[in-house]
Amino acid sequence: KAASVLVVGSVNLDIVATAPTLPRPGETVIGATLQRHPGGKGANQALALARLGAEVRLWARVGDDAFADEALALLEAEGVDLTGVTRLPGATTGVALIGVDGAGENQILVASGANALPTPGDLPAGIDRALLCQLECPLDVVAAAVRRAEGFVALNLAPFAALPQDCLERADLVVVNQIEAEALGAAAARIGGALAVTLGAAGAQLFRRGSLTAQAQPPRVEPVDATGAGDVFTAALVVALLEGRSDSEALRFACVAAALSTTRPGAQPACPRRQDVEALLSGEGS
Ligand code: RIB
Ligand code: NA
Repeated sequence: KAASVLVVGSVNLDIVATAPTLPRPGETVIGATLQRHPGGKGANQALALARLGAEVRLWARVGDDAFADEALALLEAEGVDLTGVTRLPGATTGVALIGVDGAGENQILVASGANALPTPGDLPAGIDRALLCQLECPLDVVAAAVRRAEGFVALNLAPFAALPQDCLERADLVVVNQIEAEALGAAAARIGGALAVTLGAAGAQLFRRGSLTAQAQPPRVEPVDATGAGDVFTAALVVALLEGRSDSEALRFACVAAALSTTRPGAQPACPRRQDVEALLSGEGS
């Protein structure tokens, strides 16, 4: 049976400039190429979940502008349930200004717009399916969603913010990158479930109650754009754990999915499908 997941999160339109090197403060760099893609950590994770075979509902806020349609287009095409996505009159859709350099590394500046506007009272009364949140929405909304969840709870603490202690205790899975892991610090000990730490090209590690239970290395790929790799990793790990895979198998699945996503430009356009991940996984094993 397909995993059934509610994502409470953000929707952005990503405006992406790619150049061999990115400017330092005060510097101007010319010669960049421009692209626009649907983005936002919530929307990216919802799309990645859907492409990996989950049944997905997204709860989010967008503006009543043209960016909203563009930002939701891939989710709609993939059959994600968008009945929880509200267009707020007079608000602007979230926008991420993204610079990508020649090595595929990025810098992201987010203007949250409508993503900053929901309040806990707007949330559905009960959450009976698996819940996945990131931190591009107000923290009190995320905390309220976690407290209303009846099933599996996954939190991607990106961009990092300190969530109330009871939310960390309640979490079945917390996903962070190395920078977020440092910011989390000693609070990591409060996590009730698994803690996954992504290490970029070095793969990822999974801990339970402070002990390492799994580590995985990604296949070697030629990265062109790492934007959204953490979103794909998070979604893939959620799908694999909900399917009952072991920590090691789930971590390997997530690393392969994330690595694949770095070989294509953009966040959402690069979300891999289940069969592509399985093909690379079985190729790896042989
Ligand atoms: O995680 C990648 C995402 O972060 C981008 O799609 C951008 O919208 C920002 O939210
Ligand atoms: Na990508």
